[in-house]
Amino acid sequence: MKILMVCLGNICRSPLAHGILNHLAEEEGLDWTIESAGTGDWHVGQSPDHRSIAVAQKYKVDISQQKAMHFKPSLFEIYDHILVMDHQNYKDVVAQASSKEEKKKVSLFLVDDIVPDPYFDERLFEPVYQMIETRCKELIQEWR
Ligand code: 4NP
Repeated sequence: MKILMVCLGNICRSPLAHGILNHLAEEEGLDWTIESAGTGDWHVGQSPDHRSIAVAQKYKVDISQQKAMHFKPSLFEIYDHILVMDHQNYKDVVAQASSKEEKKKVSLFLVDDIVPDPYFDERLFEPVYQMIETRCKELIQEWR
């Protein structure tokens, strides 16, 4: 199973989803490949936001070694599921799909809700962590 987590900058939300799901999959001995990318390219090559690193560290999940990557159409060929954090991410990713099959790989990470962007609001990192962790546990149950 190959899963790509996508948000705008690939420094706040998708690194958390990437790191938490990877951590849980390893604990369960699942041979899953999990990565993340951003629809924007401003942070390419950078580590996650220090506030995402800190909230993950609090729960013993290390995301500090991740490096931001820009989403590109060739990634459709690699991943089985592309999970996006909000509706704008969905539009931006689906616009790059070249077939119905590729489009079908894309869905909202929270199914019928969005993960709010915490970049401009420090108080959101903790609730964002919690909602991502809850969904990652469900994904393990659904796809294992
Ligand atoms: P993310 O948050 O999409 O969760 O990584 C953001 C990070 C950076 C910016 C926007 C959102 N930015 O405008 O640089």
